[in-house]
Amino acid sequence: MSTSDGYRVGVVGGDGIGPEVVAEGMKVLDAIGANLDVTPFDLGGSRYLQDGTILPDETIEEWRSLDAIYLGAVGHPDITPGVIERGLLLKMRFDLDLYINLRPFIAPGHDFVVVRENTEGPYVGEGGVLRKGTEFEVATQGSVNTHMGVERCLRYAFELATTRRNHVTMVHKTNVLSFAGDLWARTFEEVAADYPGVETAYNHVDAACIYFVQDPGRYDVVVTDNLFGDILTDLGGAVSGGIGLASSANLNPARTGPSMFEPVHGSAPDIAGTGKANPLAAILSAAMMLEFLGEKEMADRVTKATYEVRDHVEGKSTSDIGDAVAARLA
Ligand code: NAI
Ligand code: MG
Repeated sequence: MSTSDGYRVGVVGGDGIGPEVVAEGMKVLDAIGANLDVTPFDLGGSRYLQDGTILPDETIEEWRSLDAIYLGAVGHPDITPGVIERGLLLKMRFDLDLYINLRPFIAPGHDFVVVRENTEGPYVGEGGVLRKGTEFEVATQGSVNTHMGVERCLRYAFELATTRRNHVTMVHKTNVLSFAGDLWARTFEEVAADYPGVETAYNHVDAACIYFVQDPGRYDVVVTDNLFGDILTDLGGAVSGGIGLASSANLNPARTGPSMFEPVHGSAPDIAGTGKANPLAAILSAAMMLEFLGEKEMADRVTKATYEVRDHVEGKSTSDIGDAVAARLA
């Protein structure tokens, strides 16, 4: 798998079940004959506990010349929640400009994808606190929306729709969030005008929650902001086969640096080391990586094999499940 002119992929197994599921993803990539030049990176909560390293700027610089990063999960029970998430995952998103978070949802009766804006909204850390810890504490947390950021996200969604069923639904809360919502709505109209072959729809986010559960077949591509996307994609996962199959991509579609691919689940410290982790979400994330690298045919084969195995994972170990997928690709 490690030939010199392959795709350059950085692998971050991370913590808990992260390295276990990533190993199965690598097994499958090997089985399908993907030409990868792999560099492992020891990062995550365990590394942080060893020497205080989270994600040094030098590592980010090294990553800029990669084609992709394949990540398991990071997070350790002995570390305050947020330290690794902000310091590693959010830092990656911002520094590598991974402005699209993409999550496919495939289940009987529906096949749609959510495009979540990944670098703006309430996640940029705008805001502050006054008189903290007192009765008079004031906290604000702003949502930052730029025309550039919204436009490139919407444009990605429309481009994606042209490769699917030519339908884009924007989800927001324009009736209440009148400044951010107005920017999103106007930009949606602008971008839509460039794609006359793509049908459009709009849902308020609360209504979208109902449709995700009751009528997901109405969707092809759903595009939304960072916070709504975070919540909606968990709901999408819950109605589409659960955490065991939820895969995701954090994309820099401009390809000014690597994109990152990871299962949606965390490091699951409760089952780490037991062989009970389901690796299918990590394997589907590897398929998303193959597709983004231009290996669509390989990606489709891995995805198909994964869906063939999904109903036969009961009682199987992590590596048995990986073997079952790999065996279908030989
Ligand atoms: P989690 O996703 O790790 O686990 C939630 C539940 O789902 C647990 O019962 C776990 O055993 C089960 N589970 C998760 N993935 C599974 C798999 N592949 N197969 C079988 N069962 C699975 O979420 P939790 O417990 O909230 O977080 C644990 C740690 O992971 C925390 O440190 C958290 O910050 C971190 N985390 C990291 C993420 C990432 O790296 N992107 C995403 C979510 C959480
Ligand atoms: Mg989430």
